[in-house]
Amino acid sequence: MTIVALGAALTAAAQPKLTKDNIDEVLAAMTLEEKAALVVGSGWGSMNAGSMTASSTILVPGAAGTTVPIDRLGIPATVLSDGPAGLRIDPVRQGDPNTYYCTGFPVGTVLACSWNAPMVEELLAAMGNEVLEYGADVLLAPGMNLHRNPLCGRNFEYFSEDPFLSGKISAAYIRGIQSQGVGVSAKHFAFNNQEINRMENDARIPQRALRELYLKNFEIAVREGHPWTVMSSYNKVNGTYTQQNHDLLTTVLRDEWGFDGIVMTDWGTKDGTVAAVQAGNDLMEPGMPIETKRIIDAVNDGSLALADLDRNVRNILQYIVRTPRFAGYKYSNKPDLEAHAALVRKAAAEGMVLLENKGGALPMAAGNVALFGLNAYKSIAGGTGSGNVNKPYIRHISEGLADAGFTLDPVIENIYKSWRDYQNAEDAGAHFLPGNALGGGLTLGEGVMPEMAIRKAVVQNSVARNDAAVVVIGRNAGEGDDRTLEDDFDLTAEERDLVTNVCNLYHQAGKKVIVVLNVGGVVETASWKSLPDAILLAWTPGQEVGASVADVLTGASNPSGKLSMTFPINYLDIPSSANFPYYKPKPGQKIPAEYIAMAEAMGYKIPEPQPVKDYDRTTYEEGLDVGYRYFNTNGVAVSYPFGYGLSYTAFEYGKPAAKVGKDGSVTFTVTVKNVGQVAGKEAVQAYVAAPAGGLDKPACELKAFAKTRELQPGESETLTMTVSAYELASYNAAAVEWQTAAGAYKVLFGASVEDIRATAAFKVGKALSWPAHEVMMLQK
Ligand code: BGC
Repeated sequence: MTIVALGAALTAAAQPKLTKDNIDEVLAAMTLEEKAALVVGSGWGSMNAGSMTASSTILVPGAAGTTVPIDRLGIPATVLSDGPAGLRIDPVRQGDPNTYYCTGFPVGTVLACSWNAPMVEELLAAMGNEVLEYGADVLLAPGMNLHRNPLCGRNFEYFSEDPFLSGKISAAYIRGIQSQGVGVSAKHFAFNNQEINRMENDARIPQRALRELYLKNFEIAVREGHPWTVMSSYNKVNGTYTQQNHDLLTTVLRDEWGFDGIVMTDWGTKDGTVAAVQAGNDLMEPGMPIETKRIIDAVNDGSLALADLDRNVRNILQYIVRTPRFAGYKYSNKPDLEAHAALVRKAAAEGMVLLENKGGALPMAAGNVALFGLNAYKSIAGGTGSGNVNKPYIRHISEGLADAGFTLDPVIENIYKSWRDYQNAEDAGAHFLPGNALGGGLTLGEGVMPEMAIRKAVVQNSVARNDAAVVVIGRNAGEGDDRTLEDDFDLTAEERDLVTNVCNLYHQAGKKVIVVLNVGGVVETASWKSLPDAILLAWTPGQEVGASVADVLTGASNPSGKLSMTFPINYLDIPSSANFPYYKPKPGQKIPAEYIAMAEAMGYKIPEPQPVKDYDRTTYEEGLDVGYRYFNTNGVAVSYPFGYGLSYTAFEYGKPAAKVGKDGSVTFTVTVKNVGQVAGKEAVQAYVAAPAGGLDKPACELKAFAKTRELQPGESETLTMTVSAYELASYNAAAVEWQTAAGAYKVLFGASVEDIRATAAFKVGKALSWPAHEVMMLQK
């Protein structure tokens, strides 16, 4: 249709103005062109907002996208912006003296390692407030794919290897953000468990794992968090793109789980726009004119039913009337960044995991410290890509320690700062892709710079000047690529030498060494963890990283994080390492001899690495054997188990109880007492072991968790956790239903999956089942 003809059609059409109560009337008044425009976003970046309107403006510079406004019907554009660790918008605007920085919050993994859903909900309200006050309507978060394999480049944005923990923390995240009157987009729905070839990869997943693992966390998030929107992923599942997958987006998401929001694509759609509309993918993001044309043509030639398009348009209108933009909210552009930074500083300690603390090396008094490692002076607050946040500052670990009263060894400091500044200069601009290319400018965040080799003599000379040494090891990752095994999962040769030399030389002088892992994901620990006195897994905990680390090292905060994933001894121990599309051994590369020796000492043989060549499809041959479900059930030794984390105090678990209610739900209670010397919090995990006779199950599965408030020495708290009968169910693919077997169940109350402190039992009198649909079957 020509512009003149379109204009005539618009004038002739009725012109109601959208309200909460006249959605059907507005729908009826919309032309086909307007409907097709509304289900396709307005292009890369919000600079393109207004393609259907005269008053074209950039609404929120740096936001990832907008929906198309239709002025004549009172339909405003709405703004969609990343991302999981805080709002990602442009921090400065041309000709504008104001700044628009956003708080860099702890990444998703840190939130999950807190095991503290109420804390997450409260913290995320602050993030939601920034979304609201900077004029966005939807935060493109949380990222919630499972940690299927530690090399996935986006694991830092995601929560856990366990769907229950991931689902519960996601739901809390969503409630926190949405408590501010803005929406989220739970992503990437679904099966986006790797970044290599993420646009085309076909995740080939057996039914039971698909249901119990990769969809379960989304199911919990949808049922308990009620996200306004869900983002379909780029990849395929069992042969069909998720964005064109009616089984996934309609049968499961809406019919089974009751989702009532909109589905939008991840940024960049596939050619089958019509199939996406039919599947129930309401919105194409960021939107391209060709997509609008395809829809119009398909309705005109009868290959797309108008009813399908209308359904999606109605969903989008229902979304729009919920937004602050529709309500005309006058945002301030001035959220309280200082208050939010204080929250972030405190929350970070809840997700940091104390991995080792020999002889009570920590907490330590402020004194003279040799601070080694580039990332001590260039600390990593969060991940890269759309997971990055343009934050006002990063408080580096060096700064945090200095603020806490430590005196940093000036020689060591000088060496690293020179190296950092040299790298920064070499790197200038490399982490910013300008606008248009990726939507408003994609600041890629803190790149990882190679660690430098430090001569032994330099370490030796520092010993006499200092009371202790702290070694920081950093890692970062982001979308678009996965991590590598050598030099990323594993320590580099320089890092290995550094840890070894610092530990040997400081220990010779009777001085302690603390290693701080400022990393976004799992790293190899088994081969070197015996060397330092303490290891703090600080993760990438947000912009106050240095202050949070200093708080924990000094004991101002008692770390209470526990691992939301397993730390294996060797990468190749993980079942999915056999099919995850990475093992690219360098020519002639060998497994380091020390690994082989260590494995043999522990009584097992490391398998030979096999290169995986097929990047087009990933076959999830391991089924349910993900994380502790595999390691714990099969008794395979790990470096640190799921749920593990130390504290500066100790806790005793009392005698627990499990009581079945009338509705079949089970309520667990257990009393936890702080029997140590300092105040602290304990995250208790309830694992359920099912009776024999039903489906084969992992030895135990996490079904509930709760964290105490801060308990003073001697103080106790009784934790109560309730599990519904449905939550106990497993998926029977042959019967196409969820089943809870009758019989005697055991509940294991653990400080980790391998540290069970108390047990209780309960009975399910009668087998229960819930029907499902046979969907997403594997296509040849
Ligand atoms: C990412 C999404 C993100 C979107 C918009 C995509 O590349 O996969 O997570 O929300 O870009 O920036």
